Amino acid sequence: MAVVGESGSGKSTLAKSLIKLIDIDDGVIQFNGENINQIGAKALKATRKNIQMVFQDPYASLNPRMRIHNILEEPLLIHAIGTSSTRKDKIRAMIVKVGLSPEDLTKYPHEFSGGQRQRIGIARALILNPELIICDEPVSALDVSVQAQIIQLLKSLQKELGLTYLFITHDLRIVRHIADTVFVMKQGKLIEEGKTDIIFKNPKSAYTKELLASIPGNNKKKGNK
Ligand SMILES: Nc1ncnc2c1ncn2[C@@H]1O[C@H](COP(=O)(O)OP(=O)(O)O)[C@@H](O)[C@H]1O
Ligand SMILES: [Mg+2]
Repeated sequence: MAVVGESGSGKSTLAKSLIKLIDIDDGVIQFNGENINQIGAKALKATRKNIQMVFQDPYASLNPRMRIHNILEEPLLIHAIGTSSTRKDKIRAMIVKVGLSPEDLTKYPHEFSGGQRQRIGIARALILNPELIICDEPVSALDVSVQAQIIQLLKSLQKELGLTYLFITHDLRIVRHIADTVFVMKQGKLIEEGKTDIIFKNPKSAYTKELLASIPGNNKKKGNK
């Protein structure tokens, strides 16, 4: 499921609300039928384990002082999962799954490229076997050629692990590749939603039409020479 909208339309605010990084003034957030605004601390911790986030900036979101092994072990320690040895196995398997190698686990974040760092961010999000991954502009900070590789990785992981993504982007070109359903946001409000192909073929709001027209190579209307 994709959330699209211009910069400042409230996409990140929505994402942060969903994982309770910020409190909402009004409304209800349900996950698997449970209202996460009302559940107790213990149930909230369990729910949080099931909802993980991949951030926009792979440079800022990894602790520069921690080796990759420790970055990936941290969520497992917070949730008291496994023993040192089973955690090690899990971490080795995960780093390979995202296209890096076990030798990378002793390195620090600055030793990796942007795309590799985002692979590490994805590994950290997946290590707790979550059901939902919220990706907030996960490729916006990367070169276009690297963007395609990361999108491919996200797609193959989705297939393999049966994940659900809430994929936030201002780039509609990506939406067509990754989303079944699209939500369009404008000025903090949801203004349109629907199946991706239907929204692309037949956008209802003027705003969505504008967003679609702003896709490079998409603005040649019939009748334009
Ligand atoms: N529903 C909302 N209620 C109050 N403030 C909002 C709401 N949605 C967005 N904002 C504010 O608008 C600004 C931009 O929102 P943000 O979520 O960062 O947009 P985006 O991620 O789409 O660029 C932020 O300062 C945020 O606090
Ligand atoms: Mg944002």
